[in-house]
Amino acid sequence: MTDKLTELSNRLTDGMRPFLAMDILKRARELESMGRNIAHLELGEPGAAPAPRVLEAVAKALPEPQGYTNAKGLISLREALSRYYADQHHVEIDPDLIIATMGSSSGFILAFHAAFKPGARIAVTRPGYPAYLNTLNGLGFNAVEIPVTAANGWRLTGADIEQAFWKMPFDGLLFASPANPTGASLDRDGLFDVISTCKRLGIQVISDEIYHGLDYSGPSISALELTRDAIIINSFSKYYCMTGWRIGWMVLPEHLIRRAEILQQNLFISAPTLSQIAATVALGERDYSEEQKAHYAENRTLLTQGLREIGFDLPSAGDGAFYAYAGVSRFANDSLKFCETLLEEIGVAATPGVDFDRTDGNGFVRFSYAGTRNSIEEALERMRRFLK
Ligand SMILES: Cc1ncc(COP(=O)(O)O)c(C=O)c1O
Repeated sequence: MTDKLTELSNRLTDGMRPFLAMDILKRARELESMGRNIAHLELGEPGAAPAPRVLEAVAKALPEPQGYTNAKGLISLREALSRYYADQHHVEIDPDLIIATMGSSSGFILAFHAAFKPGARIAVTRPGYPAYLNTLNGLGFNAVEIPVTAANGWRLTGADIEQAFWKMPFDGLLFASPANPTGASLDRDGLFDVISTCKRLGIQVISDEIYHGLDYSGPSISALELTRDAIIINSFSKYYCMTGWRIGWMVLPEHLIRRAEILQQNLFISAPTLSQIAATVALGERDYSEEQKAHYAENRTLLTQGLREIGFDLPSAGDGAFYAYAGVSRFANDSLKFCETLLEEIGVAATPGVDFDRTDGNGFVRFSYAGTRNSIEEALERMRRFLK
């Protein structure tokens, strides 16, 4: 077995960690270029293209000059987003409080700098999306980790927040529901518990709603249904199958919108114009997204059952997104080495738990079921034989 990935992940700078899912993809592509067949379960990326009408609208707009837009984004997109909140969440959102961003990733940068001063402490869940810690560290903020447990379905609670806060007080909380890598979702009561605890403790909430719509056990509840004080971050990447279009949005409380707009003007000018046009159309194509979701739901059942049969520890299938965060203690105690072995020996690409949890992640691996049924069947079959 080669140690390509371990070698890659050891090449770190200034305490910044690589995003291992991306490193695994890089190595998987290398192996593919050598003629190997790889079953891709490492990336949270829908396999389908955006809805046909989205592509038509972009083709039509392409010959026109595509200049910068208003820093906040096209008014047609922000009005469509305002309608989305009215239809899906029954809340009235002023389009002036919305900013179109380059995926949710640039939304984090705007949110952190709009709401906090460098050096501020911002809490995130552990396990959680790796870029949260890396972005916070890279931008000069301090991250605090709040552990969540499989015993509680990986769901964050007000009590978890309170316990962490009294150990090491923090200024903000960034969390996702449904979450990456666990798929854990908060229902209305759970979300209320989190938001009201933060309000009581004076913590600014940033709600990452990127997996909204990809819910298998009840509709996604937006923090906007419960408060106007939270910063909402969302994206067209997942539900609308538009990862590479780099387009998302955020909704800000009134006292932060101007600051975020100024940051956007200076840091990014505006989100990509063609992608904003595409996104405006995508919002009207939810039936197409629901078709994709039906595939993920089938994949979810297939993968969950298959992993359990093989001997992975997976007490819950996750409520949303498209990930299974499976315990691997029966097979390994080093998740990076385990993923490396799967990739090099049997061509199965998955993401080690240490990407999401630097403390306990060695006991876990994240499998994504956003891809094809075929790749999941193939991966399960290869692991069944190899791990027997
Ligand atoms: C929880 C979470 N937030 C944000 C992102 C970033 O997505 P994007 O910048 O494509 O919107 C991801 C990507 O996987 C994610 O899992």
